[in-house]
Amino acid sequence: MNVHSADATTVEEGLAIQERQAVLDSETATAVAMQDTLLTPRFYTTDFEELDAINVSPVRADWDHLIAEMRADPNKGHFKKDDTWDHVDWDAMEPELKKEFIDFLISSCTAEFSGCVLYKEMKRRGKNHDVTELFQLMARDEARHAGFINDALREAGIAVNLGFLTQAKKYTYFRPKFIYYATYLSEKIGYARYITIFRHLEANPDKRFHPIFKWFEEWCNDEFRHGEAFALLMKTDPKLTSGVNVWWIKFFLTAVFATMHVRDHQRPAFHAALGVDTDWYGHEVFRKTSDLSKQIFPITLDIDHPRWAKGLRVLQRASIQIDEGKRKGGIGGKLTEWAGAARAALAFAALYTIPAKRHEVPVSTRLEPLY
Ligand SMILES: [Fe+2]
Ligand SMILES: [Fe+2]
Repeated sequence: MNVHSADATTVEEGLAIQERQAVLDSETATAVAMQDTLLTPRFYTTDFEELDAINVSPVRADWDHLIAEMRADPNKGHFKKDDTWDHVDWDAMEPELKKEFIDFLISSCTAEFSGCVLYKEMKRRGKNHDVTELFQLMARDEARHAGFINDALREAGIAVNLGFLTQAKKYTYFRPKFIYYATYLSEKIGYARYITIFRHLEANPDKRFHPIFKWFEEWCNDEFRHGEAFALLMKTDPKLTSGVNVWWIKFFLTAVFATMHVRDHQRPAFHAALGVDTDWYGHEVFRKTSDLSKQIFPITLDIDHPRWAKGLRVLQRASIQIDEGKRKGGIGGKLTEWAGAARAALAFAALYTIPAKRHEVPVSTRLEPLY
């Protein structure tokens, strides 16, 4: 029997391995992962029957090609520590960096696991062989990713209790089409984030303060394939990417980009340690994600519009105001919090109303990870 989630060939096996290690898990890390705010990773549920009814015949050739690639499992065994895993001196790490980096790991682990839980449930409930096979393969990958981040956290003496999270975390219901937009984007932005950090550290190895970044290249290729799968699912029904749904696409693009901006700006020490300017990094990730999403979405956001950067800054200041209000507490705190929330809503509306750029969507969605 496999003893590491990296060698697991199914999601069930991967999760069972993690479960056996859960004795080491810390309450604090799990409590952080349990948080449900606008900015933290959520767990999703959907109308699984509607999803199961998809017919992939219109994209059959691309579909079979992608599934064959995933079935071949190029990353089996990759997600475990080996002799290139350098020793991490957690005690010597600068406290602010340690705090932000652990927060980054917990939030990434929760996001990976959120994908795992949703995909696993789809695989369990579905009857459509095409759909269940895809979701089984994606759940397998996400279980490995979450497990690997937990391995890294364990060295710092903490880990997220994934079994507990599955039982206790709140699930947000999204209609299947919203699952497609949100999940497609989170897979593609995940790819863009991981590859941007990986390439930056390849050029600046002295900034690699933790070995996990060495694993990001193969890692992001998994996310790339997951994104390809959702692009194909959307391609089966042209209605999903036309008419009023284009407004929904714009909404999800804006929400995903804006959330990333605010979250990343909450971790200044982390980005400073990597030697990355947070605004540069954000723009780079938005640019890559926009380019990739042209494969299926008929619009991209105008991230070079002067109102874009300005809107993001206002949103970020509003999020600081909300946090201040929460910390202060009492009636005064509540008022500060509400004022911040109103400011954030206005800033979001301002971003949403920036005219989008339209383009022709290619006949075939298929892309290769070229960054
Ligand atoms: Fe993942
Ligand atoms: Fe993924």
